[in-house]
Amino acid sequence: MMTNYLFSNHDTVALAEKYGTPLYVISEDIIRENLTKIINAFTKQNATYDINYAGKAFLNLAMCNIIKDMGVSLDVVSGGELYTAYMASFPMERVCLHGSNKTVEEIKMAIEYNIGKVIVDSKYELELLNAICEEHNHVMRVSIRVSPGVEAHTHEFIQTGKIDSKFGIPLKQVRDLFDFSKDLKNINIIGLHCHIGSQIIDEEPFLVTAEVMLNLMKELKEDGFSLTELNLGGGFGIPQMRHDASFNVDQYIEKLMSTVRRICSEIQLEVPKIVVEPGRYTVGTAGITLYKIGTVKEIPEIRKYVSVDGGMTDNPRPALYGAVYDAIVANKTLVSEEQEIVTISGRCCESDTLIKDIQLPKVEPGDILAVLNTGAYNYAMSSNYNKIPRPAVVLLRGDEDEIIVRRETYEDIVAKDMLPSWQK
Ligand code: LLP
Repeated sequence: MMTNYLFSNHDTVALAEKYGTPLYVISEDIIRENLTKIINAFTKQNATYDINYAGKAFLNLAMCNIIKDMGVSLDVVSGGELYTAYMASFPMERVCLHGSNKTVEEIKMAIEYNIGKVIVDSKYELELLNAICEEHNHVMRVSIRVSPGVEAHTHEFIQTGKIDSKFGIPLKQVRDLFDFSKDLKNINIIGLHCHIGSQIIDEEPFLVTAEVMLNLMKELKEDGFSLTELNLGGGFGIPQMRHDASFNVDQYIEKLMSTVRRICSEIQLEVPKIVVEPGRYTVGTAGITLYKIGTVKEIPEIRKYVSVDGGMTDNPRPALYGAVYDAIVANKTLVSEEQEIVTISGRCCESDTLIKDIQLPKVEPGDILAVLNTGAYNYAMSSNYNKIPRPAVVLLRGDEDEIIVRRETYEDIVAKDMLPSWQK
């Protein structure tokens, strides 16, 4: 009887054997399912909407192609992400550039590639963008990022008049900024943007934010600015442990659209196009990381450390944010197997615990561990700390599996090094 853990209908032990470990495995089918849930939810509400996948979660040429094929737009935050989209021949009118401190070079690139939109984060940037556009005889479509005074962190949120964030224009300064923008001929402000946080499970903070933003749109309309687009950012949470609740996109979009429509009719505002920017929700559950177990060390009566051949270099999130992950021993999936509580540690010269205290079947060196829901912000935030090469990324589609980012080599590790003349 086959007892190996199947991910997206693929035998993960066979994948580990074929491609080596550590290995990021991404399922195109799950990415498509996740995006389809959002598309269907908006369609059901008859909404005018756009989905901007937040590329920071996971971006490469193959990912751009999936997003392109799904008819979804792309949000990029740097010249590097913009270049990736360009190299994938992603339709540039569907690209929107973010960032709280865009460089002149990035703005020039955005103009040269003729991207769809820039999300402007400050008055300084608005002037800079206008000036560079003027030099290039270009008019850029712009949304203004607002700091709405709603901050959400997973289940909790706070609404406060006090705004302390490097992102966006504080609510109270927005009308002045629009007034100032009247003289800027090379920008065309079409909407407002905000983003209240990430890994949010509760709908309430999004709904409160929508209300704040619509009221602001109404005030701006009275000032003579009619805006057609409201971008509410990303942040839809994913289950961390296998049995955790997931963000209910269908229910959220139903509530959102009814809230938006109710408020708009109350304040006599045309219902704007609603934009969302899901990064984690799109790709988080579509990825796992496969590791090979090595050293197993028991400190009697204290803890059993199970070491894997990756660690904070391929998944810095536990170290950075105290993020929790779930895992499965891919070659030991029967519940009948003897269980024990262990701590999964990485291989870096650092106490890089990946998972503290998880119940697993009794493991031995050579077993394959699958860490779940690592699709977002894992490869994207990986590093070469300890000169460890980055793992490969394998993409699954149906019963096919292929490498989409090759494993780094030791040659890659020194490829950018140069010797000063006095050492040659
Ligand atoms: N839009 C904007 C403007 C954002 O700043 C972000 C995330 C997103 C969309 C996408 O958010 P998502 O849907 O993925 O929650 N490295 C952290 C996450 C940082 C998110 C920053 N901004 C992590 O690993 O948890």
